[in-house]
Parts: sequence; C-alpha cells; structure tokens
Amino acid sequence: MKKTPIELNVNGQTRTVLVEPRELLIHTLREQLELTGPHVGCETSHCGACTVEIDGRSVKSCTLFAVQAAGAEITTVEGLASPDALHVLQTSFREHHGLQCGYCTPGMITRAHRLLQENPNPTEEDVRFGLAGNLCRCTGYQNIVKSVLAAAEELNTQKEAAQA
Ligand code: FES
Ligand code: FES
Repeated sequence: MKKTPIELNVNGQTRTVLVEPRELLIHTLREQLELTGPHVGCETSHCGACTVEIDGRSVKSCTLFAVQAAGAEITTVEGLASPDALHVLQTSFREHHGLQCGYCTPGMITRAHRLLQENPNPTEEDVRFGLAGNLCRCTGYQNIVKSVLAAAEELNTQKEAAQA
C-alpha cells in the first residue's frame, strides 16, 4: 500500500515518517521512532499499555492511525523526564513499588501525568477512577494508587517551594 509522508511532533521534536493509511500510531512510535515506552498490549483499547498524550489528552495509541496524529503534540513516557532527572511520577513509582513486571507502567505513568495536570490534588477515589482505563495484571493497584498520591504531594510541595 502507498505510504504517505507525515510530520509527527513527539516529545518536542518534529519527525517525518512514511506511513500507510492503516498504520496505527503505536506501531509508528515504536517501530519507526524507536519510542518503545508505550507498549502493545491488547490492541483493542482495553488495557492502556499504549497510552500517550496527544494535545493534552490521554489517548490509547492503538486506537488511532498515525495519519490522524499528524500535526498534533504527542508526548510519550520518554518525554516526561528531563535530560538529567526522572519525572516525579517515575521516581514515585520506583519508591512505592508501583510496578512489578512493568508492562503497564509507561501507560500508567503517562495517564497519571495527565490526571495530575487536570487535578493536582486528587483523592484516592479520583486516582482509581482516573486510572480505570489502564489495566495491571500484577500489582493489585494498591501501590500504583499510592505512587500517584505520593507524586501529587511531592509535585505540590515543589510548586509551593518554587512560589516561596
Ligand atoms: S494496546 Fe492499546 S489499549 Fe491495549
Ligand atoms: S506491573 Fe505487570 S502489568 Fe502492571
């Protein structure tokens, strides 16, 4: 099938890729751009392992074609950390044992990032509801929720310190 050149803005960089109209965004990210943080789980929009941010919204990247993301701002888990430090959510998942096998983790963290952007002071219920579209086979979710709540607290502390 004929391939079309499109521009994807990923993690602050504009990248040109050649895609077939049927190519899913998750495959373009992983196979062409070598961003293997987003994982392929179900490919049917159930598990959330492929979650990325597109124009400030959480999107399961197996649910849209790469051509549909042309021109949008895409952030994958690789784009959350700064060059010299992990994102607070990443550190928090490590400290609070928010992962076991890690397969769901990039999607969980990317989704949690958006959740905290929209609600910087979530309750436990808010976190559980906000992560309801991301499945984990290992952890029982308890430590994932704990990690997100701890990250929210740390981010708020950092914000207050920056404003002082
Ligand atoms: S791989 Fe996209 S939701 Fe499961
Ligand atoms: S840590 Fe294994 S699926 Fe979540």
